[in-house]
Amino acid sequence: MQKLWDRSQTAVKFNPCSVERLSFAPTTMLYVIVPLWALLAVSQQTASSDRCSCELIISQKLFPHDKLSRVESDASECNGKITHEKTLELESLLLGLDRRLPQLLEDVSMLTKEDDRDLYGVLSLQVIENEMKDINQLIDKLNSTTAGHQRLTSATAKQLEDLKAEMGALELYDTMQVVKKQQANRRLRRDLDKCKNEIHPVIQPTQPQQGNCPHGEFVNITGPRVNTAGEYPGSYKYGAWGRDPKPEVGKEKWYWLVMLTSGNKHSNYVRLYASLSSLIVGVSVPGNVLIHSSNPTTNTIQGPNIVLYGGALYYNCYNRDAVCRFNLTSKTVTSLQLPKGTRFNSKSNFCQIDECYLFTDLDLATDESGVWVIYTTTQDLGYLVLSKVDDGEEPTLGQTWRTSLYKMGATNTFMACGVLYATRYVDKETEEIFYSFDTVTGVEKFDVGIFIKKMSPNIYSLNYSPVDQMLHAYCDSNMVSYKVLFE
Ligand SMILES: *[C@@H]1O[C@H](CO)[C@@H](O)[C@H](O)[C@H]1NC(C)=O
Ligand SMILES: *[C@@H]1O[C@H](CO)[C@@H](O)[C@H](O)[C@H]1NC(C)=O
Ligand SMILES: *[C@@H]1O[C@H](CO)[C@@H](O)[C@H](O)[C@H]1NC(C)=O
Repeated sequence: MQKLWDRSQTAVKFNPCSVERLSFAPTTMLYVIVPLWALLAVSQQTASSDRCSCELIISQKLFPHDKLSRVESDASECNGKITHEKTLELESLLLGLDRRLPQLLEDVSMLTKEDDRDLYGVLSLQVIENEMKDINQLIDKLNSTTAGHQRLTSATAKQLEDLKAEMGALELYDTMQVVKKQQANRRLRRDLDKCKNEIHPVIQPTQPQQGNCPHGEFVNITGPRVNTAGEYPGSYKYGAWGRDPKPEVGKEKWYWLVMLTSGNKHSNYVRLYASLSSLIVGVSVPGNVLIHSSNPTTNTIQGPNIVLYGGALYYNCYNRDAVCRFNLTSKTVTSLQLPKGTRFNSKSNFCQIDECYLFTDLDLATDESGVWVIYTTTQDLGYLVLSKVDDGEEPTLGQTWRTSLYKMGATNTFMACGVLYATRYVDKETEEIFYSFDTVTGVEKFDVGIFIKKMSPNIYSLNYSPVDQMLHAYCDSNMVSYKVLFE
């Protein structure tokens, strides 16, 4: 693993988060590409599949050097962490290995059969030994990633154990070395090519279904994986950010950001970034999409509980008990009037011990099944109400559930796999996911007990991103995300 930063140049070449290397012989190497997720505006990797290098060409203007050092520390942090993309790559790699190992076993057993004294010693067992060592290291790394990998790894580990035993036996015969080394190398290289081709299987995205979590049960979170001050460090206390769970073609990697620019309460635009790395370094392309030139005015944004879904921004309409849907393509707003008695304009906010968060009467959330709105009404006595937002020409209110959670007793809510979760403030460093409500079974829990390690005291918006199973939080102008762990 290596990383090279050269401040004096505008072209920087580096290896991303982690590069795994399998070495089959000193002359034969395979580099597996692990895409970079958290660094810089990167022009795409070279098309060749056997090298891992990212070429970054930037001008001074676009790339402020003071941010570089921040990013650099983020990058080194990133080394130790497994991102979703990386996990996918590792998974692919594991799949490749899994297919490769039987082949290797076959090779070894063939070599055993070839034992006619003269030929046997010829194989440089060291070559295979080195290979085994590297594969072993890789297995170790894979082993320590996620629980989801455990089954596959242990099966692979078993095969490795078997291989190791074979190797031990073979070693006893290894007296002559050298003669057929080249032949063996050729064979290994052929296998390697085969392996290389198998290493990039297409992983089908899971089909989302309400209440039927494709990933299993929500058990914990880890992180933060991302913690960035973004383009305007410290400037906007309230806001929201994230990824569109149902992005338009070509916008799959985009991130969005809404800062409440008017009195920490209102906003009239959404800012877009072509990747997480450009959000971190603060290079916004394609820039802002304006809802209205005035702020605030009819149908602009009120409060930080905002989501982007299917190319449309959903939020609490300014000065109304309604959800606005702003279509970023047509630049038009349609709205969904909430039931009579719905509390708005900071009447039933989310609260912690010392303060309530301004204009958080309505919370919007996304999960595998779409958009949800969380609110309360006078007739529900401040207890939290959850409704599905159905998409259509105009958004409409779908099925509704009533809960026994007092809305002002929570700091935030989010949805994952048809289950509503609520958080509360524990102390400056810790927030707790303490409550859940399953919309399928109706089961309510007040003892979820999952803790969030905070980077700053207040989380003003929190939303689950089903595309990468991350929780995105906007906290006192910092953008932070956590990985959700499913069982
Ligand atoms: C994988 O990890 C588990 C515990 O985390 C350990 O018991 C097992 O030996 C590991 N397997 C390998 C092949 O390292
Ligand atoms: C969740 O993960 C944290 C570490 O990230 C760990 O300390 C805690 O015990 C885990 N909680 C559960 C319920 O597994
Ligand atoms: C947004 O507008 C475009 C163009 O009018 C339309 O094709 C698309 O379906 C709209 N999206 C939503 C979510 O309404």
